[in-house]
Amino acid sequence: MSKVIAVSNQKGGVGKTTTCFSLSASLVEMGFRVLVVDLDPQSNLTLAAGLDYDELDKTLVDLLDSHSQNSAVASEQFIHQTSLKGLDILASDPRLARVERDLYEQNEYENRLSKAISPLKNIYDFIVLDCPPTLSSLTLIAFYAADEILIPVQCEYYAAKGLDLLLTIISTMEKRRNQTIPWHLVVTLFDPRNKIHRTVYDQLQYNFSDHLLETFIRMDTKLRECPIVGEPITVYAPNTRASEQYRQLAQEINQRVK
Ligand SMILES: Nc1ncnc2c1ncn2[C@@H]1O[C@H](COP(=O)(O)OP(=O)(O)OP(=O)(O)O)[C@@H](O)[C@H]1O
Ligand SMILES: [Mg+2]
Repeated sequence: MSKVIAVSNQKGGVGKTTTCFSLSASLVEMGFRVLVVDLDPQSNLTLAAGLDYDELDKTLVDLLDSHSQNSAVASEQFIHQTSLKGLDILASDPRLARVERDLYEQNEYENRLSKAISPLKNIYDFIVLDCPPTLSSLTLIAFYAADEILIPVQCEYYAAKGLDLLLTIISTMEKRRNQTIPWHLVVTLFDPRNKIHRTVYDQLQYNFSDHLLETFIRMDTKLRECPIVGEPITVYAPNTRASEQYRQLAQEINQRVK
């Protein structure tokens, strides 16, 4: 049975997509079968995986549409392989912006993704969801499908402040699901020479010691180059510090979700 991890933060550009893809590739290196799901109409994860959404016959949009019509569909047919064996993707395309609006009008839409990926849980060890930088219907369906939530956070003043709102949403969702959903913070884009980064890191440790993961991801320009070549960091630059840090994150996540 898969563990489903939603990678989310409504703050833009904090490293959600990079973390989703690099973590998943590291889990594949450990021998796990992993599916990544692109829940962002910007389709950054799809592009980072080297796919062109204009050339894809089916994406997550078609899977969610077919579930809204209550038709029995084989979810596997919507999946694409990436260049990394063992890492598959449910891709996104810009039509997802329409789905984001339409979902609000539909009854019990919160469980739409959970139902759609349910048959896939027998195939993969991990399903990792890349959420958009909004607290929209797409983030909500990810939270309702998730066993765990991973929150990439940058050690900047506003980024840490924005956590309050996200944690309130998670707590409301937990009450509605009548279930506790473990959540973890991972610091990204960290620069140890930056005094503000060090100060905010200490504050996160003080306020969220049970949730803050030991692994943090430092700034590394190699991570910016990966989407251009359509490969995860562990393939593009396997011997870099960034690759090692994402491998360490995968080990820590695997320990925590057991
Ligand atoms: N550790 C890092 N070091 C250097 N650059 C990074 C790092 N992590 C991510 N980046 C770069 O920062 C930018 C934003 O990262 P990413 O797209 O992963 O963030 P995001 O939270 O998914 O953004 P959005 O909110 O738009 O979905 C990208 O250009 C990415 O390549
Ligand atoms: Mg993103």
